[in-house]
Amino acid sequence: MSLNDALIIDLPKIEDPRGNLSIIEEEKNIPFKIERSYWIYDVPGGQKRGGHAFKEQQEFIVALSGSFDVVVDDGLEKKIFSLNRSYYGLYIPAGLWRQMENFSTNSLAMVLSSTQFSEDDYIRDYADFINHANQELKDKINKCRRHLSEDVYE
Ligand code: TYD
Repeated sequence: MSLNDALIIDLPKIEDPRGNLSIIEEEKNIPFKIERSYWIYDVPGGQKRGGHAFKEQQEFIVALSGSFDVVVDDGLEKKIFSLNRSYYGLYIPAGLWRQMENFSTNSLAMVLSSTQFSEDDYIRDYADFINHANQELKDKINKCRRHLSEDVYE
């Protein structure tokens, strides 16, 4: 999976003098069905969360309060997404390494997930992640080669 597949998605924002309102509907504002939601809070200063990748899980992360950074890594390069508003979030497809850091005091990170919890879906070792990313790339190249040879012989 490439870094370009991780995207900031703007959410609807209904402004109101009584207070603003934002919305997430599955398969409408985000590209998957929500199987699980969890949130990260009371993070002590300087702590980092989530240094891992998922094989299947897609996710959408919103800073419901405060701010934090999500560092996304495809094995070749890294990109830092700063989340600090509750009317947009970061979509992360499966197969990217991601770490959350720089949590402000009282920050609240909401994570919407496309799968139920499964420890087997985690890639927690960075070397394993690199192997996984390389294998994905090889599979893609082989698929392209097969398509090309089919085109040639048709
Ligand atoms: P984990 O995803 O490893 O958090 P981080 O990478 O930020 O440290 O989750 C921490 C622990 O919580 C781990 O033992 C698994 C457990 N957990 C669940 O039981 N269900 C869940 O939905 C999540 C997200 C975590």
